[in-house]
Amino acid sequence: MSADAWWKNGIVYQIYPRSFQDSDGDGIGDLAGIRRRLDHLVALGVDALWISPCYPSPMADFGYDISDYCDIDPRFGSLADFDALVADAHAKGLRVVMDFVPNHSSDRHPWFIQSRSARDDPKRDWYLWRDPAEGGGPPNNWRSNFGGPAWTFDAATGQYYCHSFLREQPDLNWRNPEVRAAMYEAMRFWLRRGVDGFRIDVLYHLVKDDEFRDNPPNPAFVEGQDNAHRVLPLYTSDRPEVQQIVIEMRKVADEFGDAKSSRVLIGELYLPLARLMAYYGEDANGVLQGVQLPFNFQLIAAEWQAPVIDRIVRDYEAALPAGAAPNWVLGNHDKPRIASRVGEAGARLAALLLLTLRGTPTLYYGDEIGMTDVPIPPDEVQDPFEKNEPGKGLGRDPQRTPMQWSGGAPNAGFTEGRPWLRLASDWRQRNVEAQWQDEASMLRLYQRLIALRRDEPALHEGRYEPIDAGTELLAYARVCRGRRLVVLLNFGAEAAVVSHELVPIRPRLLFSTAAAASKATDNSGSGPGFEPTVGWTLAPFEGVILSD
Ligand code: GLC
Repeated sequence: MSADAWWKNGIVYQIYPRSFQDSDGDGIGDLAGIRRRLDHLVALGVDALWISPCYPSPMADFGYDISDYCDIDPRFGSLADFDALVADAHAKGLRVVMDFVPNHSSDRHPWFIQSRSARDDPKRDWYLWRDPAEGGGPPNNWRSNFGGPAWTFDAATGQYYCHSFLREQPDLNWRNPEVRAAMYEAMRFWLRRGVDGFRIDVLYHLVKDDEFRDNPPNPAFVEGQDNAHRVLPLYTSDRPEVQQIVIEMRKVADEFGDAKSSRVLIGELYLPLARLMAYYGEDANGVLQGVQLPFNFQLIAAEWQAPVIDRIVRDYEAALPAGAAPNWVLGNHDKPRIASRVGEAGARLAALLLLTLRGTPTLYYGDEIGMTDVPIPPDEVQDPFEKNEPGKGLGRDPQRTPMQWSGGAPNAGFTEGRPWLRLASDWRQRNVEAQWQDEASMLRLYQRLIALRRDEPALHEGRYEPIDAGTELLAYARVCRGRRLVVLLNFGAEAAVVSHELVPIRPRLLFSTAAAASKATDNSGSGPGFEPTVGWTLAPFEGVILSD
């Protein structure tokens, strides 16, 4: 690999800690469990793990409601377990990225308990308190992202507090310098413990309008949609003042590490392309002072069609500031799984896409074995989003079910107790153990692709060159120091012939997503479907990497 910072060409693997591996039989995954499974990540070939929040939390939003920014929830273990995990991960060459949730704390955080105790408490201004509107009711029309108003009345002090999410998640006041200082200290606490960076939760939400103006109605809202979409988040997200905070966070991260092992900031940002780019923080001299990786979620939302994806990739590449590191994501703990969105064959193609586009890929646990969304019966629902807005398909439990390790152990080897969420019904067939044995499996596909990506500079650091290839095909090249790899993806259910003008003169098949071709990744000379005057034939839903 090159001398670039690790996060530029490394691969990030997201762990939802409740669901990865339980070690004490309480049915909830924990840090000791993650530690026990590090060799899976090594075998898969990823470079870093990002752990969704494991801080002390009343778990109203399963850890995204933090009651102490500098400790570990006993359900997940202790600080000693965390240190041991970081030490083991580092010894195995893996980086550890911590989740950081700065927009809101838990309502049980001592800061909030103090803040709500009296109007003149010194911590009052650490949160957003407002008088009721004239005539009563919430101060304005801001909506919570989890349904209902973004304001909850606190009878004891006669004011409302703001919460962009659950009422158990009061928004911190980032205009207050003491809040900033306290949060930056929390970041340093973990950086000193050796974490390699942070994924920053809803970074674009941190600052709200200082005049608390009403959000405008959303003309595109359709009944049945997520209630938060009734208004446009003009005054509640992506405010200009956030940019200064981003710069300050970056400075904190930059106090630690050197160029090669720099600490990374990954921003959670659901924003249109142009706004996303702002979070790289390019200054007048072209210096990037923002987060190194503003999460690029476009593949999660995209319609699964070759021309759509082609446009997305070209526009994204064109929009990046000079020197900015691109990144791609297929799924996370908030969104339906890729295998459920595009099917098993589509998910194989998606893996090829994720790992051959230019930029840092982030994988969601379980996607490497093709896990699908698990329907959760109403009486087993855990996610507060589903509880608040039932039946709209917004619930996130289906993509958070326990990791499927083994077909032979109880609960797929996830826990010896009762899992907090039911397992997928296919765990006896679809699991890590079985897929290591099967050359044609999704897991082997991921592992081979990751290995190839690591071996081929063109794939991990090469230029991206678009190729025009029609409506069913997505094609592009990755080019580095004279080596040109052509990636062809057939999105169609029919075989497709790629014109010989688009493929290398004497193409060599480096990789195919087709299960049958999985043993034949090294066949030199003409590939199975190559005719020099015609072109390369791709099977339905097949993707390949060709070299000269
Ligand atoms: C982010 C998290 C999500 C959480 C929300 C509130 O979007 O990814 O899981 O519920 O923020 O913290």
